[in-house]
Amino acid sequence: MTRILSGIKPTGKLTLGNYIGALRHFKDFQESGEVFIFIADLHALTMPIDPNELRENSRDLAAFYLASGLDPKKCTIFLQSTVSAHAELNAILQNYLYMGELRRMTQFKDKCSKMNDSEIGLGIFAYPVLMAADILLYDANIVPVGEDQTQHVEICRDLVKRFNHRYGDILIMPRAQVTKVGARIMSLSDPSKKMSKSDPKGDIFLKDDEKTIRKKIMSAVTDMVGKVNYDPENQPGVSNLLTIYAALSDITPQEAAEKFKDSGYGDFKKAVADKVLEELLPFKARYEEIIASKTYVDILNEGAKKAEAVAKKTLKRVQQAVGLLSLND
Ligand code: AMP
Ligand code: TRP
Repeated sequence: MTRILSGIKPTGKLTLGNYIGALRHFKDFQESGEVFIFIADLHALTMPIDPNELRENSRDLAAFYLASGLDPKKCTIFLQSTVSAHAELNAILQNYLYMGELRRMTQFKDKCSKMNDSEIGLGIFAYPVLMAADILLYDANIVPVGEDQTQHVEICRDLVKRFNHRYGDILIMPRAQVTKVGARIMSLSDPSKKMSKSDPKGDIFLKDDEKTIRKKIMSAVTDMVGKVNYDPENQPGVSNLLTIYAALSDITPQEAAEKFKDSGYGDFKKAVADKVLEELLPFKARYEEIIASKTYVDILNEGAKKAEAVAKKTLKRVQQAVGLLSLND
């Protein structure tokens, strides 16, 4: 059976970009494959974060996973830090990715370009190693992610090639799966930038209330063309809104553009806001129910057990392959 694995970092507030590019798709795999979804809390430590905030974000993310329709009976949901095999495999795999290739990673360059070497933690540099450990422990075939994470899956594939070449067929080759529409949602205030957790103005956060969401969409940056076209180059703001509408309606941005070709920007934005709220309001209500009832606690405990059983087997396979002496068998 196909294995699917993905995770999200509990840093900052989750955005509509996270939802459209990643979260929304996870549940689609439950019926046909074996799904592992986790909270990448160890990855959250790669940039400074307040401990209370990290705890709150981790609970929130667990509730968001469940609110998105992930069913603990059909998939495994867990916290990365509760399955120690992630850290153990990380310690082995760090020897199979090299300084030069890690230094070239876009995320590392973006995050650290304005920092001095004396401020850059080893964790952010070695980020792709831990991510490779996450993926490889579960023999994942498919890794659903937004576009910004595909480079991390590529470097994981390089590692698999290198490792298997040396030790035989030990690790399973994964591949990234990027959604056709909405793999890169842009900021509403600056459509040349990715919508990200760290930009309060241009982003829609999943916990925003109805009024805030409407206001942010109605004031999204557009252009002087005055006509709704899907043309990311010349009309990036309008095209981004079309992408959001299209992703949530399961149509293409071109189909969305056809629908709004005779609308003014005001009416178009209102329709986008209605669409976003139609999806997010029930989602948020489910999230609030889950947070209040704390059902996620048992689910994460159970998930850790299920994940550990799978992860331990892979770890053992790797330990044996590289020559770590096993005393008891
Ligand atoms: P992160 O916020 O980096 O933990 O990302 C969690 C998931 O959301 C990853 O699969 C990202 O690729 C995806 N993602 C983050 N921002 C966006 C965005 N603006 N558009 C589409 N997908 C995104
Ligand atoms: N790096 C991912 C992100 O920022 C989170 C992540 C950590 C992940 N480990 C993973 C995603 C393994 C997919 C598979 O979104």
